[in-house]
Amino acid sequence: MPPAFVRSRIQGIELPPFDPLNTRAAELRAAGHPVISLGQAVPFFPPPAPALEAAREALTRPEVHRYATDPGLPGLRALLAERLASTIGTRVTRDDVVITAGGNHAFTLALTTLVDAGDEVILPAPYFTNHQMAVVAAGATAIEAPAADRATFAVRWTDIEPHVTSRTKAVVLCNPSNPTGAPVEPGDGARIAGELARRGVLVISDETYMQFVYDGAHWSAASVADWRQNVVVIGTFSKSFGMMGWRVGFLLADAAVCEQAVKVQDAMIICAPTISQMAAEAAVRDCWSYPLSFHDELRRRRAVLAEGLAAIPRMHWTPTRGGLFAFARVDGCADSAALSRDLLERAYVVTIPGASFGASGEGFLRLSYGYADAPELEDATGRLRRFFAGA
Ligand SMILES: Cc1ncc(COP(=O)(O)O)c(C=O)c1O
Repeated sequence: MPPAFVRSRIQGIELPPFDPLNTRAAELRAAGHPVISLGQAVPFFPPPAPALEAAREALTRPEVHRYATDPGLPGLRALLAERLASTIGTRVTRDDVVITAGGNHAFTLALTTLVDAGDEVILPAPYFTNHQMAVVAAGATAIEAPAADRATFAVRWTDIEPHVTSRTKAVVLCNPSNPTGAPVEPGDGARIAGELARRGVLVISDETYMQFVYDGAHWSAASVADWRQNVVVIGTFSKSFGMMGWRVGFLLADAAVCEQAVKVQDAMIICAPTISQMAAEAAVRDCWSYPLSFHDELRRRRAVLAEGLAAIPRMHWTPTRGGLFAFARVDGCADSAALSRDLLERAYVVTIPGASFGASGEGFLRLSYGYADAPELEDATGRLRRFFAGA
């Protein structure tokens, strides 16, 4: 039992089962079992060479040991603004970005700056679990808005509209989505942003996987003409540059919003890690397109996973255009947590239960093709096939 003085809303938050599943997977591996993880929301590639070189070189300079300015290194902010402007196709200045300690930190920074206790925040579902946890931690109410289209998981205004009330402060888009890999389609996104702007509701758009769209282009919520009125974008270098452990990401919002967010930044962390910002600056300057060079390989892995799942009569997945994920329906599954545990114990495959991403995710499993390579994906889906065939 947690001490009674811990806030009840924090006590009520459920940690997703990632850590227990990974700990059990490590135990099984240590016991000699051939565990394959399809649980990891990470890409397989390392940080680009210029980032590593910049970090090495930074260690020889005294400023690496000091605080950076609260909103981030000016050089990184300016370069990032330039890159985002050309990628998204909108005007972005250095003052419109705050460098954060990763995407999750950018999200909590946005919530702390913009959302009051008691506000409602709509999460199109299945949602990214950490979004729901952060909304609850902020004292706001997370409202699950399930996607009507359970094959493509496209997020549509018609899914969101019935949940909008006078208390709605924001709608969170996850584009492309963790856990479904579905990008927000440009027509849907423009409609959602427009309808919300008219109602004075914010869009908090987590575009962590903006550089992981394999067919067609990424649509950013910051591409609508008057995005500054109600849009905040979350981004990160974790996935694009394989820098998860470096803890560096960003918030993109109108300069007037960033100016307020910097107060919270100063009180929370002062600044993102200086060495990580230096490494990210080199990556943004020298190899912004780095993640795109892995698209062919990721498409290949997605195809292998799709073929493997298509051979399992009880599993159903319509491949999505981005992210690192398959969100597959399992016929007859009413307890995805139990199924996921069973798959680990009996098939030695790590999957993530769909119910971790909201009640509407029950009956699904999230499988990642970001880390496992093609032979492992083939092996893993073969094991799933035999598991469901009862072999
Ligand atoms: C949608 C989404 N947002 C944010 C994050 C967290 O990223 P970061 O490492 O930058 O905090 C993740 C990580 O899996 C994610 O999938």
